[in-house]
Amino acid sequence: MTLAGKRVLLIVAGGIAAYKALALIRLLRGAGCGVTCVLTRAGAQFVTPLSLQALSESKVYTDIFSLTDESEMGHIQLSRAADLLVVVPATADLLAKMAAGLADDLASTVLLATDKKVLVAPAMNVRMWQHPATAANMATLAARGVAVVGPDEGAMACNEFGPGRLAEPPAILAAIARLLAPAPQPLAGRHALVTSGPTHEPIDPVRYLANRSSGKQGHAIAAALAALGARVTLVSGPVAIADPPGVRVVRVETAAAMLAACQAALPADVAVCAAAVADWRMANPAAGKIKKIPGAAPPVLALVPNPDILATLCAPGPARPRLVIGFAAETAELRANAEAKRARKGCDWIVANDVSPETGIMGGDDNAVHLITAEGTEDWPRLPKSEVATRLAARIAAALA
Ligand code: CTP
Repeated sequence: MTLAGKRVLLIVAGGIAAYKALALIRLLRGAGCGVTCVLTRAGAQFVTPLSLQALSESKVYTDIFSLTDESEMGHIQLSRAADLLVVVPATADLLAKMAAGLADDLASTVLLATDKKVLVAPAMNVRMWQHPATAANMATLAARGVAVVGPDEGAMACNEFGPGRLAEPPAILAAIARLLAPAPQPLAGRHALVTSGPTHEPIDPVRYLANRSSGKQGHAIAAALAALGARVTLVSGPVAIADPPGVRVVRVETAAAMLAACQAALPADVAVCAAAVADWRMANPAAGKIKKIPGAAPPVLALVPNPDILATLCAPGPARPRLVIGFAAETAELRANAEAKRARKGCDWIVANDVSPETGIMGGDDNAVHLITAEGTEDWPRLPKSEVATRLAARIAAALA
């Protein structure tokens, strides 16, 4: 992604998540985007002007009454010199000021004076986020065209759990990119179904069968398809990563639930089955915890096969998506096994990857794939999973065009 020639005015307010603004600056600079920072007085309790300046390679503005700052660049000009204003983290206090139109410090003043689009990334305690005052402020800002990314749901620094965590820097970057360089939308009007992550098959109420899938590749594909304008339904097994932006996520545990969710999501123009679905489940999961009985032999787990979601989606019929793509996770005979898998499952394309432990692919951030289609096999270089996703999404768009 390139944001070369673009400039963001990054307003860093006072919250424990302010440190993530530093990671965002690195991502923006990496994408070629210029960054100028405004740090609020509370923000300076969490990050220093020096770190912002070092990473942004630009002067950091903190004080509205600074004669030097005003002589170099007045606050009105500062608010308009950028292509986009981004508030990270957007605290309850700053959002309230924005909604009310207050201008009692540099950050709130530039936000009031700007004629540019504003993106806020809220972060606060879950009760503060859910408070009717914050909700009303967010509604006011949304009605005025302020864009929002996050907050995510999860464990918080204050030991509570729920929505209120700052969106991850890559998600904020993606939101910035959408606003600054709206990508072409070749998949607008298309519906994409993506499966991702492992499945958990209960053995008893406290134990399950699972695998090492992280969901990173499937989630990245969902995000890449959404970035091209597709409406995306992501059916995800249990994962520890954030929901991709702009995607409808259906969370499931078992293969049976994943199949049901996929079928409920049809019709779709394209289906990408990236989930590592458990091949077997317990024939009879125990209703209570299986206990150790002194002297008795360990339990024998009787398994039955799970439905094959990919093969089911591939079955000929009116509900079959026009393009169905499977993955082949192999540890030996990669190409031969993957080609056989494509034929056996009836899918159009197979993305084959070697998941032997030494490759670090399963659970890792990179992937080295072979794209197998009716026309032949392409060997792609080792790439970040996000880049594999971007390339695959572009291929899907071309195939559906
Ligand atoms: N798949 C599926 N439902 C299953 C098993 C697999 O939808 N019950 C899909 C996966 O999402 C992937 C493809 O089938 O797109 C191949 O998965 P993989 O684990 O590589 O193959 P298996 O079918 O499980 O075969 P094997 O374990 O023998 O390699």
